[in-house]
Amino acid sequence: MIRARGIRKSYRLAGARSGELPVLRGVDFDVADGEFAAVIGRSGSGKSTLLALLGGLDSDYSGELQVAGKELRTLSDAELSAYRNTTIGFVFQAFHLLDHLSCEDNVALPALFRVNGKESKDARLARARELMETVGIADKIGTRPGTLSGGQKQRLAIARALYHKPQLLICDEPTGNLDSASAAAIIALFRKLRDESGVTLTIVTHDPTIAAAADRVIEIKDGVVELVPGPGAEEVRP
Ligand SMILES: Nc1ncnc2c1ncn2[C@@H]1O[C@H](COP(=O)(O)OP(=O)(O)OP(=O)(O)O)[C@@H](O)[C@H]1O
Ligand SMILES: [Mg+2]
Repeated sequence: MIRARGIRKSYRLAGARSGELPVLRGVDFDVADGEFAAVIGRSGSGKSTLLALLGGLDSDYSGELQVAGKELRTLSDAELSAYRNTTIGFVFQAFHLLDHLSCEDNVALPALFRVNGKESKDARLARARELMETVGIADKIGTRPGTLSGGQKQRLAIARALYHKPQLLICDEPTGNLDSASAAAIIALFRKLRDESGVTLTIVTHDPTIAAAADRVIEIKDGVVELVPGPGAEEVRP
């Protein structure tokens, strides 16, 4: 699903600290189709920077970065929007939910950015409700996100990211704002999604229990990747 070779990324600094800040200095890794990968590394090591590249949000890098067979830097703007809207789903640490909409309208938001074809409102709501069931918050249909707990908001954000059946789900610190019980439930949800929907997962985390649940752990250290086999790596999967 992901093939990264020699990824280099620097930020240009302005003002008094002008110059270049190298963050990724030749990052190599693969994530197989259907795999659950965790990306770890200390604060400032470049995890979110890497996710922005994978998410098609930043094309200013060198090296090879292929996702679902596409070399991201060669995509046109239209192809990149289609990639962001349908090939991948993105979940941020802050949930970015809209409280003036119902939970199911939040889940169906990606339908508004659809490039080809339009679904009926009934079809959108049916899909949103089905996803709320998948992530375990069917009882919240008809309510506003503001009335949900942190763990439920994260489930809602995950349901929204799954709306277009992405091949790859990318999450930045999905349990960063949650207590340990809610975090454990989100991790169980990731494993269920991997096992039942076959979606590939790439999850940035500081949470050792996510890393322990993953098939593969990719550690970023000093701008390069150290591969750590996850404890789940030997597990036989259907
Ligand atoms: N837009 C930017 N301009 C300049 N420097 C940046 C920018 N974004 C990030 N950086 C710097 O790049 C480095 C990597 O940042 P990044 O956000 O990728 O780290 P991270 O591993 O996600 O950290 P955390 O675990 O704290 O979220 C940091 O030193 C950060 O200050
Ligand atoms: Mg980060």
